[in-house]
Amino acid sequence: MRLLAIESSCDETAAAVVLAEGSEIRILSNIVASQVDVHRLYGGVVPEIASRAHVEALSRITYAALEQAGVSLGLLDGLAVTDHPGLIGALLCGVNFAKSLAVNAHLPIIPVDHIKGHIAAAYLARDGYTPPKPPFIALVVSGGHTSIYHVTSYTEHTLIGSTRDDAMGEAFDKIGRLIGIPYPAGAGFDALAREGFTETVGDTENYFAAYAKSAARRDPQLKLPSPALTDGSYDFSFSGLKTAAINLLHRFEQQAIPLPLAAFAARYTFEAVEAVATHLSAVLTAYPDCDLVLCGGVAANSHLRHRLSVLTEKLHRGFFVPPPSLCGDNAAMIAAAGYFAALKGAFGDSSLNACAADF
Ligand code: KG4
Ligand code: ZN
Repeated sequence: MRLLAIESSCDETAAAVVLAEGSEIRILSNIVASQVDVHRLYGGVVPEIASRAHVEALSRITYAALEQAGVSLGLLDGLAVTDHPGLIGALLCGVNFAKSLAVNAHLPIIPVDHIKGHIAAAYLARDGYTPPKPPFIALVVSGGHTSIYHVTSYTEHTLIGSTRDDAMGEAFDKIGRLIGIPYPAGAGFDALAREGFTETVGDTENYFAAYAKSAARRDPQLKLPSPALTDGSYDFSFSGLKTAAINLLHRFEQQAIPLPLAAFAARYTFEAVEAVATHLSAVLTAYPDCDLVLCGGVAANSHLRHRLSVLTEKLHRGFFVPPPSLCGDNAAMIAAAGYFAALKGAFGDSSLNACAADF
C-alpha cells in the first residue's frame, strides 16, 4: 500500500509518502516545514499564526513529498491525515486540504489520532532495526502529552497513566524560557543539563545512577518535587514540578544569588526523568510480557533515552525509540498509523472533521 500523509496539528506542516507491506513500512519521503522561528518571537505557539502558516505551506509541502517519493497522486492507495488532538485551527487546515485532495484524486481518506501516530513512529523501517510488535508499553512524551499506554494491537491502545496537568515538554519549554533558552526549549535544556551532569559526575557511562548518589542530588538549594504521583496511579503532575522550579528561580533572584544554571537544569531533568522511570518500572513489572516504546518530541531527550535504556536492560525488556528526527511531529508516523487503520477499514468520509480534544 502506498500512502500519502499530512500532519498539521501544531506548529509543523508535514507531508510524507510511505510504502507499506505486511508489517514493513518504508519511508519514501518525509518533509517537515517547521514554524518555530515565527513562534519563537512570542515564546510559544500562537494558534492563529500557526493556522495561517499551515495554509501557506500545505500544498507546497505535499507536492514536494510526492515529488521526492517519485509518485503521482494516481499511484497512491490512500491519504492519511491527523484529525485530532491538537490546535483546532491548525488541524482544520490539514483535514480540509486532505479532504479536497482525496475527493479530487479519488483516494480513500484515513483519519489518524496524532498520539497513535507518535507510537507508530516506532513501526517505521530503518536499516538494521526490527520494529516492535504489540503488545507493548508506550510512553508518549510531547509538548502536549505525557501518557503511558498499553498498546494491545496495531490499532488499539489503553491509557494507563498520564499527566493531570502540564505535559513534560510543555514544562521543559516554560522553565527553559524562564532561564533564557529560546522556544522550544527542550533541546537547549537537554544540552544544559548535560553540562550539569558532567560537572557533577564527569564522563561516567551510567551517569544518571552516579548523579542519583551524588551530593548535588541532595543539595537543598535546588530541591524539587518528583512529578510522579504517589496515590497508587501511574499519573504525573508536571505543573507541581514547574511551580516548585519557578519558586526556586524567584528565591535565587530575591536573594540576589546567581543561579547555577547547568546544575539547576541537571537537577530539574533528573526529577522529571526519574519520575517517568519510577512509574515505568512499576508498569513494566505489572505487564511482564511487554517491551517499552518511547516516542513523542521529548523522546529526543538524551537523558530520558539513557535512563529508560538502563531501566529496560535491568528488567530484561526490549527498548524501542525512533531516531530524534522521527520523535518530533512528522507525517511519516501519521502514514504508519494510517496504514494499520486502513488495513482495518477505518476510513473517513466527507463528514470528517477536526477535533481539538483527545478521545
Ligand atoms: O511531539 P512534538 O514535536 O509536538 C507535540 O505534539 O507537542 O513535541 C514537541 C516538544 C516540545 O516541548 C520540545 O521542547 C520537546 O518536544 N523536545 C524536547 C527535546 N527535543 C524536543 N524535550 C526535551 N529534550 C529534547 N531533546
Ligand atoms: Zn506531537
